[in-house]
Amino acid sequence: MAGAAHRMRAAAETPVSFADAVLSWFDRHGRKDLPWQHNPTPYRVWVSEIMLQQTQVSTVIPYYQHFMERFPDLRSLADAALDEVLHHWSGLGYYARARNLHKAARQIRDEYDGYFPRDLDAVMQLPGVGRSTAGAILSLARGQRHPILDGNVKRVLARYHAVDGWPGKAAVLETLWRLSEVATPAQRVADYNQAMMDLGATRCTRGSPDCGRCPLQQGCQAFRQGRQRDFPAPRPRRELPVREVCMLLLAAPDQTVYLEQRPPSGIWGGLWSFPEFEDQAALQSWCDRHGIASGMPLQRWDRVRHTFSHFHLDITPCCLQLQNPVFSVMEAHRGVWYNTSHSNALGLAAPVQRLLARLQNSN
Ligand code: ADE
Ligand code: SF4
Repeated sequence: MAGAAHRMRAAAETPVSFADAVLSWFDRHGRKDLPWQHNPTPYRVWVSEIMLQQTQVSTVIPYYQHFMERFPDLRSLADAALDEVLHHWSGLGYYARARNLHKAARQIRDEYDGYFPRDLDAVMQLPGVGRSTAGAILSLARGQRHPILDGNVKRVLARYHAVDGWPGKAAVLETLWRLSEVATPAQRVADYNQAMMDLGATRCTRGSPDCGRCPLQQGCQAFRQGRQRDFPAPRPRRELPVREVCMLLLAAPDQTVYLEQRPPSGIWGGLWSFPEFEDQAALQSWCDRHGIASGMPLQRWDRVRHTFSHFHLDITPCCLQLQNPVFSVMEAHRGVWYNTSHSNALGLAAPVQRLLARLQNSN
């Protein structure tokens, strides 16, 4: 009995102390003087949240002030021409935000008699407003208890609880929403939500979390494990496609190999490489056409993988040791006979260097 009671108390206390830590940090360090924090009507908070979706606070402030001078309330925005709204948005970018804002203003004017909706689901139906933005508007402007989960809050919660997985995955996102919901206090929701966004923006930053000055350090799993950078996990790299080619390593008895310059565009543009073929048959017919290798043994080496950002290149090297130099046809081509015993000034593709080293060791 005592054990169960203790567990229940522990479970109930965790979110409270989390929120307490966040709120007392807010009292000492939180931002309380942002333009939209003065007279925080739903309209004013809504406009600020939309501007802040893809733009940082310092950039938003002057735009916000001009915007509010021209469109001080919902009706003035709804009645304005779209062009004028876009004009006041110019410089902020992501103009779909301005179009949606204008469209939503007209919707509120026409469907809600000009009163900003009070219901979370109704706010989420407005163009350009997702669940987190709707929660932010209703909590910051009306003190309603709604969790938020913007990029900053995701990062704080993912680190605090060491939540594995990429938040783009539905299950991970659901976990984070649940954690946000549980942590959101019943009192002072506006301050709490504002503080969580500020914490993410100023302490628990993506590149350099300042755990030494973070109020959540004590219970933070990522801090405890020294794994701040593991959370949130990045989008998983998708499987790269594989391209297969054959390369002809044509070696002459005078320590030279035959190289060609690659076309200026495409992979290894302008670098020097072995002649490349789709498959071994194409390689063989090239040799036949140039009168080499008839009856010579072609040595197939093990495949070599070279990975680019967008695909793996699997190279099958086919090595041919010539008994006599063959200069005739290739001289007129785009090739050179490259002396492997000197370090030449040619730019060589990375796998070519490795294959050349292997070729020398095999001699
Ligand atoms: N980013 C999104 N909403 C914000 C807010 N209210 N304060 C600071 N940064 C934000
Ligand atoms: Fe982020 Fe560090 Fe604070 Fe944890 S302790 S929430 S990692 S800043």
